[in-house]
Amino acid sequence: MTVTSTPRRVLTLRELSVRTGTYPLLEGVSFTVDGDERVGLIGESGSGKSLTALSIMGLLSPGLTASGSISVLDGEVIGAKESALAGRRGRDLAMVFQEPMTALNPTMRVGKQIAETMLLHDTQPNKKAAYGEAVRLLERVGLPDPERAARSYPHQLSGGQRQRAVIAIAMANEPDLLICDEPTTALDVTVQAQVLDLVVSEADRQNAALLFITHDLAVVAMLCQRVLVMYGGRIVEAGTVADVFTNPQHPYTAGLIAASDLDAVDAEGHLTTIRGSVPPAGKFPEGCVFANRCDFATDICKTQPPWTGVPADVRQSGRHSDHPAGRDETGGQDFGYACFHPLGENAE
Ligand SMILES: Nc1ncnc2c1ncn2[C@@H]1O[C@H](COP(=O)(O)OP(=O)(O)O)[C@@H](O)[C@H]1O
Ligand code: SF4
Ligand SMILES: [Mg+2]
Repeated sequence: MTVTSTPRRVLTLRELSVRTGTYPLLEGVSFTVDGDERVGLIGESGSGKSLTALSIMGLLSPGLTASGSISVLDGEVIGAKESALAGRRGRDLAMVFQEPMTALNPTMRVGKQIAETMLLHDTQPNKKAAYGEAVRLLERVGLPDPERAARSYPHQLSGGQRQRAVIAIAMANEPDLLICDEPTTALDVTVQAQVLDLVVSEADRQNAALLFITHDLAVVAMLCQRVLVMYGGRIVEAGTVADVFTNPQHPYTAGLIAASDLDAVDAEGHLTTIRGSVPPAGKFPEGCVFANRCDFATDICKTQPPWTGVPADVRQSGRHSDHPAGRDETGGQDFGYACFHPLGENAE
């Protein structure tokens, strides 16, 4: 028998809800990420993925209110003062956004920006040491002439180079959790794979947990052990990548998988897609948020489907029982689905 030590839990969301003044944008979002995990968060555009990430970072727009609990390491995010959040951002957790310019200051040289991140958190003793470390970081993230890159303004770098610089800033203080929100979507196809490789190698090198947001299921299958499926501001299914992608229980997950399979064409030769489109915020159906697009909807789906947690060894062969993704001791939503009529023979 292998004895495994329990990895540190870096992130716990419990019943996170986010509202505008009038309607909900996220509801009842609960999940955990452990220190040794790479977790994917998938869903169509408008599902609430970025809002989830921004909530964790404590960066929601002022008009939005969050309730529930988000703890990063041992610190609560919801209700925390901005000064406390700023002290943790970049140190306990860091984020790489879709568009690198969001994260960079256009008026400051790149090397100085990286150095300032370290000085802010006192991880370098002085400006000179911090600048030297910034140049080393730029080299490590693969910028060909790191000293020149350090002297450059963001607009003088290519999109891929800018994202590498953002990754350098994110990793500068060795965060415990790295959140990536579609980090390669805005980049040329040719550099996407390289930037993905960099994210993974940096997270691995520093033992950072990864919460990876994407609409690309193939990327999740490649990078992550566990996946959370989001739709209508809710987690609708969660589990190991192996379970969820081969034996999805929620019709939305099955639709996403079918839509990502480029070989899957219907009788007229059209690619399979999920019928209809994601409603704008505030316009999702009452009850099951997916009901207006679901082929299996019945009257009961007008009420909110409860979360059904399924032990790992019941779902499949039991081979996951040693894996962190199989644990559900927090009572969180790490494993299961929310649907009245789940697909698959293991489900009721
Ligand atoms: N500040 C905001 N005020 C009102 N609605 C918002 C705000 N931010 C995002 N939304 C809405 O919330 C929904 C989820 O957005 P988002 O989290 O960005 O989705 P995703 O990242 O999955 O594409 C979308 O309908 C979006 O328009
Ligand atoms: S609860 Fe009903 S409408 Fe929602 S996904 Fe399941 S079957 Fe479809
Ligand atoms: Mg988004």
